[in-house]
Amino acid sequence: HKAPTGCPVSHRAADFDPFSDGYQQNPPDYVRWSREQEPVFYSPQLGYWVVTRFDDIKAIFRDNISFSPSIALEKITPTGPEANAVLAQYGFALNRTLVNEDEPAHMPRRRALMDPFTPEHLAHHEPLVRRLAREYVDRFIDDGRADLVDQMLWEVPLTVALHFLGVPEEDMDKLREYSIAHTVNTWGRPKPEEQVAVAHAVGNFWQLAGKVLEKMRQNPEADGWMQYGIRKQKEMPEVVTDSYLHSMMMAGIVAAHETTANATANAVKLLLQHPHVWREICEDPSLIPNAVEECLRHNGSVAAWRRLATVDCEVGGVPILAGSKLLIVTSSANHDEGHFADADLLDIRRDNASDHLTFGYGSHQCMGKNLARMEMQVFLEEFTRRLPHMKLAPQSFSYVPNTSFRGPEHLWVEWDPAQNPERRDA
Ligand code: HEM
Repeated sequence: HKAPTGCPVSHRAADFDPFSDGYQQNPPDYVRWSREQEPVFYSPQLGYWVVTRFDDIKAIFRDNISFSPSIALEKITPTGPEANAVLAQYGFALNRTLVNEDEPAHMPRRRALMDPFTPEHLAHHEPLVRRLAREYVDRFIDDGRADLVDQMLWEVPLTVALHFLGVPEEDMDKLREYSIAHTVNTWGRPKPEEQVAVAHAVGNFWQLAGKVLEKMRQNPEADGWMQYGIRKQKEMPEVVTDSYLHSMMMAGIVAAHETTANATANAVKLLLQHPHVWREICEDPSLIPNAVEECLRHNGSVAAWRRLATVDCEVGGVPILAGSKLLIVTSSANHDEGHFADADLLDIRRDNASDHLTFGYGSHQCMGKNLARMEMQVFLEEFTRRLPHMKLAPQSFSYVPNTSFRGPEHLWVEWDPAQNPERRDA
């Protein structure tokens, strides 16, 4: 194997497969060899350059002109003619939103749509998050056992996401199915026979997004980030375009809920795997905000992101040609000893935990990061107060195979309901 620059590809680079279970279970561990020995390598299986060190990835994020985000939502596995025909039949045309928009279009749009993400605006959502978290825990608190993903962590962030966006609560199970299909379609490697089923789900998702948007246009004064966008479109139609609104209607549901659901499941799993840390946050909930940050660093829900080199350049001293695609493994950057001392250690008092790159960095950095943080804090506050005695049930964890969106499909926990503090105190 040779890289596009003509250089030979090492064995480990040739073997790199982000759809394998090794990557799914623990991406930073899977690329440890790269971080230590070959931090920029060409993956012939993927057709991407893979970058694994903190400083290199941060430099890429910093320069969104040489490293364009335009491929961020592109299918990482090109689909065959049959799946393409299905997508065409639904008129599927997901295009630029924010995350995959180039300058000079991106910044004016980001600025125009920022207001609903300010701390004052986000504060309005906390009571809803708290109420939902309490209600869902009420449903299973006396059972002694729950799959936190199926019974809570999927649906609550989805409800919050719909509320934030201004979307009436649609059929939750359908949206869950569509969102997973979108993840597989964008970052997965479905076999040809799976591709067609995925294409139907993604096509339906696209059409549903269009219908929801049409309905919203009839009542653009309602609350919600999408209605805010519809109102902004009247002032600046060339900044907030129709194509943007339809694409964001679909991508926004995934961006806002799947990431947060996975992040919380990853965090609870990690904390329960370190029972002494779990005990500490149960005893002192003021530790929760930094614990959330440390969990996002150590075991975040976005494992890797993408950029397209627009000019001939160098990354970590390795020449990269214009037109090359880059997989930047942010989860690996987060375990880089060069930036985080004792990087594999879960240290909820780490003073630079929030330097992690799970939300990206620079001009495209996640706009929803403070909403996600608030949700995660509320969930942990409720769990530590009401179920401090919960433990991970014995289980093996499975993940939807893909490069980027990562969280366990199920998270079984158990506890003795007779020991529930609320019951004991009653
Ligand atoms: C962008 C991760 C939650 C909305 C991004 C990016 C990442 C990311 C990696 C790309 C950053 C870059 O290119 O530098 C996450 C994670 C989340 C989360 C890990 C949860 C733990 C949310 C939520 C919302 C949201 C809750 C919305 C309510 C956005 C938007 C962008 C974005 C609009 C595009 C920003 C731009 O390109 O200017 N997110 N996200 N995200 N995220 Fe999030």
